[in-house]
Amino acid sequence: MPTIPAPANPVSPSLIATLPGRYYTDPGIFRREQERLFEAMWMCAVRSADLASPGAFRTVRIGRESVLVVRNRTGELRAFLNVCRHRGARLCTEEAGEVRRSLQCPYHAWTYGLDGRLVAAPNLVRMPDVDRTAYGLVKVALREWLGYAWVCLADEPPSFEETVVGAAVERLGDAAAIEHYGAERLALGKRVTYDVRANWKLIVENFMECYHCATIHPELTEVLPEFADGYAAQYYVGHGAAFGADVKGFTVDGGEGFGRLPDVADEQDRRYYAVTVKPTVFVNLVPDHVILHRMFPLAEDRTTVECDWLYAPEVVESGADVSRSAELFHRVNVQDFAACERTQPAMASRAYREGGVLVPTEHHIGIFHAWVVRQLGGAQG
Ligand code: FES
Ligand SMILES: [Fe+2]
Repeated sequence: MPTIPAPANPVSPSLIATLPGRYYTDPGIFRREQERLFEAMWMCAVRSADLASPGAFRTVRIGRESVLVVRNRTGELRAFLNVCRHRGARLCTEEAGEVRRSLQCPYHAWTYGLDGRLVAAPNLVRMPDVDRTAYGLVKVALREWLGYAWVCLADEPPSFEETVVGAAVERLGDAAAIEHYGAERLALGKRVTYDVRANWKLIVENFMECYHCATIHPELTEVLPEFADGYAAQYYVGHGAAFGADVKGFTVDGGEGFGRLPDVADEQDRRYYAVTVKPTVFVNLVPDHVILHRMFPLAEDRTTVECDWLYAPEVVESGADVSRSAELFHRVNVQDFAACERTQPAMASRAYREGGVLVPTEHHIGIFHAWVVRQLGGAQG
């Protein structure tokens, strides 16, 4: 039997404790996170422009629910639980699609308008007492911001301004700063979906620190030399990491990128900003594009991450080659997710039963941990 070292209980003021391993492996804790976080907070679901015309829909996993986001006849986005009100069949089984005027359940053909109202059902005329409004699809709250539909399953959603927009204000120190990138007007240049075999919190923690940058991100630290020191840009309010002196653009080899987005301010030029919108969104801002990550936690050890690279519409329409631009953060993603997957199995090890430690450049992760524990209603046994 190997000797198990004493639990990490740091006495050095430089080190503070992480969450214990069970927070990353226990299905019961994950279930509580689904209830208290993913089904209670605003979650970034769909790029609005992906649903270009009336009848276009997409289904997304939010907590334990399948949520259907659809563009209605008058051009607005609406969200519903993807569950037929008759006997509960899943209404849309595809991840994305387009219907003409209505959504029809494939089981007994109950038919819903794009506003969720029950519009037809076999023999419905012989049931005049049935209130069609009462048997419409169950509505889910929806807000649009940065060109995305954000949904919230809570009956009384928390303030969008405080919990979502507020995260960007808190990080950038200025409410207008993120608006300068005009993310809602940008076009999708590239999208990659990553299947990450790791708990969603490992991905957040990794994104919040740059202690690992020098070890695993050679391309990123070339472009952002200050990252090689281990201090993440998100460490200081309002600070963006400066491009290296010889770097022309935020690209995989530091070569030329695209023109600066029109409203990006001089002080934002040649800088990289990262914003974490808890629980599951990262927004990365560089002068010529925006990179947005949406996480969909599927299980305690599995997370889907959808990453979008957004450029000025004229860049995408011109057919310009965005591959060297997108390749930089794609590599960062692959490097980061490999690190998270390397960590996940060890969360179940007795060596990590009491957790590990955070060094000073990671101390702010402790604030994230405290937030998670608070949201879950206290320490989880
Ligand atoms: S379950 Fe949908 S129509 Fe019966
Ligand atoms: Fe990283």
